[in-house]
Amino acid sequence: MTDVNHPPQHPENPAVAEGAELSTADREQKLSFAELADSGHAAAQLRTDVEPVLTVEDLKMWFPVRSSGLVRRTIGHVQAVDGISFQVPRGGSLGLVGESGCGKSTTGRLITRLYTPTAGSMRFGEKQVDLATMSNRELKPIRRDVQMIFQDPYTSLNPRHTVGAIIGAPLEVHKVVPKNKVLPRVQELLEIVGLNPEHYNRYPNEFSGGQRQRIGIARALTLNPKLLVADEPVSALDVSIQAQVINLLQELQAEFDIAFLFIAHDLAVVRHFCPEVAVMYLGKIVEIADRDSIYGHAHHPYTQALLSAVPDIKSAGHGRRERIRLEGDVPSPINPPSGCRFRTRCPLAQEICAKVEPPLLQIGPRHKVACHFAGEIGRHPATPVTAGLLGVDKQGSPDPGTTPQPVGTNPGYDKEWFDLDSQQMVSA
Ligand SMILES: Nc1ncnc2c1ncn2[C@@H]1O[C@H](COP(=O)(O)OP(=O)(O)OP(=O)(O)O)[C@@H](O)[C@H]1O
Ligand code: SF4
Ligand SMILES: [Mg+2]
Repeated sequence: MTDVNHPPQHPENPAVAEGAELSTADREQKLSFAELADSGHAAAQLRTDVEPVLTVEDLKMWFPVRSSGLVRRTIGHVQAVDGISFQVPRGGSLGLVGESGCGKSTTGRLITRLYTPTAGSMRFGEKQVDLATMSNRELKPIRRDVQMIFQDPYTSLNPRHTVGAIIGAPLEVHKVVPKNKVLPRVQELLEIVGLNPEHYNRYPNEFSGGQRQRIGIARALTLNPKLLVADEPVSALDVSIQAQVINLLQELQAEFDIAFLFIAHDLAVVRHFCPEVAVMYLGKIVEIADRDSIYGHAHHPYTQALLSAVPDIKSAGHGRRERIRLEGDVPSPINPPSGCRFRTRCPLAQEICAKVEPPLLQIGPRHKVACHFAGEIGRHPATPVTAGLLGVDKQGSPDPGTTPQPVGTNPGYDKEWFDLDSQQMVSA
C-alpha cells in the first residue's frame, strides 16, 4: 500500500519520470561509459596484491537433452559451460562478456549454486571451500557470502511482497538479527542504495526500473556478502539510468569491500566497472586480461570483433577501429565445432583450428588468449604460435620431434609467460 505521508517519488509513470530528472547534458555524459572510464572517475583499479576470493577451475555445466516420448533417454548435452577457469580477487571485479547464449548466466548460476556443476571446482573464501561439491546443508552459511543481482528488476522481485518483506527475508531466514531489528536494518539498506527508508511498505510496482534494481541490490547486500554475481545488472534499464546504478555498485564495492563477477554483453559497461575482463564464446573463455590489454591489445579475433562493434571505445594506438562483421550464426552448444569453437566464424581459421583446441595461453603478465594465431589486429602470425607447445605441426598433426607441454592449467597467472614475438618463456 502507498504510504500517504510519503507519496511515490514519481507518481505518474515512475520509469519515465526517473530519467526525466536528468538534463540533456547529463544524459549524454551518462551514456558514455568509455568517457567515465577514461576520466579515471570511480573506475575500479586492478588489485594484484590480494588473494582471490574465488578460484574457478575447469568448470563445466552440461545440461542433458532428452528424447521425447514415454521413455525419455538422454540423447545429448548442451555444453553451456565447458571447462572454464578464472579467479576473482578479494574486493575486486572480473567482467564476463560474450554474445547471447555463450554461458555467462550459467556461470553465475553455478557460482551461486543455483545449478550443480557437471565437473570442476569453485574454491571460495579464506578456507578455499569447494562450492561445487558442497551439500545444501553445507552451503547454507556460505549462501550469505555469495549473492546474486539479477538482470530483470521487473521479474526478479515478487510483486505480492512489500519491499520490506523482500529485503528482510534473508535476515529472517538466516536469523542474523533479532526480529525487532529487521525493520531498522531494511531501512538502513534502503538508504544505502539511495531509496527513501520510509518506503519499506510499498510494493515493487510502485517503483521505476532503476529503483527496483536498487531494491534488488539492497536485497543482495542484506547479509554482507563477500562476492556478488551481478548478471547484466543494468541491461534492462533505460540508458540514462544505467550509469547511476553502475556508480552505486562501485560505491558499494569500495565501501563494503565486495568482490564482483560482473556479467554483461556490453564491453563499454564492463570497461567502466572491471579492471579485468574475460571474454566467453560458446562455453569457453577465449581471452582474459587486465583492462588495458583487452581494450588496447586484444589478441583474439573474437574479442577484436566485439570491440569493433562498440562505437565509443577507441583502440589505444590504432585510432577508431573498422567494424569487423562476423559471418554466420553462433553454432549449437549441443554439437560445437571441433578444435576451436570459433572457427566456423573466424576469418583467420586454418587446418589446425579444426583439429586442435587452442589452450588458454598466458602471453603477458596478466593476459591469456586461446588462439593458434594470436596477435593484435593486422599482426596475426602466419604460422600457429601454439604448435611447438602442443607438440603438433603447422597443420595440427602430431609432431614426433616435439614434446607437448602443459599449457593453460593455472586458473590465475604465472610469473612466467609465453612471449609471442620471441616464442620463448619470459618473466617480468
Ligand atoms: N536449464 C537449462 N537447460 C538446458 N539448456 C540451458 C539451460 N540454461 C541455459 N541453457 C543453454 O545454455 C546455453 C548458455 O545459456 P546462458 O543463459 O548461460 O547464456 P548467456 O550467455 O547468459 O546468454 P544471454 O546473454 O542471452 O543471457 C544456451 O545455449 C542456453 O540455451
Ligand atoms: S584458433 Fe583459429 S579459428 Fe580459433 S580464433 Fe584462432 S585463428 Fe580463429
Ligand atoms: Mg544471461
